[in-house]
Amino acid sequence: MLGRKVIKNLLSYTLKSCVCTNYSPQRNIQVSLVGTTNDVGSNLAILLKQSNKFDQLNLYDDDCKVKGIGMELNHIPGGPEVRTWAGDSSLQNSIRNSDLVVMVYRVPRKPGYTREQMLSANAPAVQKLCRAIANENPNAFLAIATNPLNSVVPFASALMYKYGCYNPFKMFGITHIDTARARMLTARALQINPLDLTVPVIGGHSDDTIIPLFSNMAPCATVVDPYKADTLTRLVRKAGTEVVFQKHGKECATLAMAWAINEFINLMIDAIRGQEVIVNCFTANPNFGTRFFSGATKVGPYGITQACHSFQLSDFESFLLNTAVPLINRDVGLGEEYVKYIEMMEKY
Ligand code: LMR
Repeated sequence: MLGRKVIKNLLSYTLKSCVCTNYSPQRNIQVSLVGTTNDVGSNLAILLKQSNKFDQLNLYDDDCKVKGIGMELNHIPGGPEVRTWAGDSSLQNSIRNSDLVVMVYRVPRKPGYTREQMLSANAPAVQKLCRAIANENPNAFLAIATNPLNSVVPFASALMYKYGCYNPFKMFGITHIDTARARMLTARALQINPLDLTVPVIGGHSDDTIIPLFSNMAPCATVVDPYKADTLTRLVRKAGTEVVFQKHGKECATLAMAWAINEFINLMIDAIRGQEVIVNCFTANPNFGTRFFSGATKVGPYGITQACHSFQLSDFESFLLNTAVPLINRDVGLGEEYVKYIEMMEKY
């Protein structure tokens, strides 16, 4: 288990080691996508192919269909060069030279299932990826969009710690989908343009831990009354589960999810190129009574420079935070404990 002290020590150790790294803003930038052939992965790949911010897109999947996806994407003029890798034995090659590795692999959630119940289905793929990164490219940024995010990010962190290369500044759970939904649902309720609106979302990524902060919206002249805040919070929290139901068990959110991950990746590439950016993510963060927490996070070329820390909260938001903290702690513990379980299962 990654105690608070361990995280603090790691933070100071890694910061020192990061400062010594040579950073060259001119070099080629590579992004790897792990889990390309599912609907999130393939939609994300076409969005990324339209970016002029990086040079090479490495697509990996167990399924050899990834080869056809890559071939097709290379028929589209412009954007990064696309390279593909299929099958377990090529996972290491697919991430070897990447600056940013993004995991979108997932077994989709069925109606009636919670995200929490997806840990055993998705953990083995996360473990394989962590091993590959530890062996081949421990300095890469690792961003995960695989559920249950509240447990998978601590699980991956504990694994990397065990493999001797955990860097809390470079490990992210992507939560841009929650800010996108909060923005859209609020803009619709207030009949304003979503592009003019920012709604911070903190907490975790599950029905009871997503906390939209309507009291901290920008522009600040926009006001959501307490009744609307309650209704909108329920809508934002349930949005993913509602998509699962509307797709009749065949998939969960894929298009908006790909859009949201693409938004995150483009910002991260700006960071890798030397800018300081703000992304929404679930990361190591001891500021709210949990070891991991989601919110607006500053990132620069060497990783996180500032995790989200304090907000003026309404009474309702304070209540949501107080009820979410024990749930996040439970999910974090489950993820960390799962390392022991999966290693024990490997022996049989
Ligand atoms: C979402 O929020 O849409 C994702 O976490 C996928 C899911 O299972 O709900």
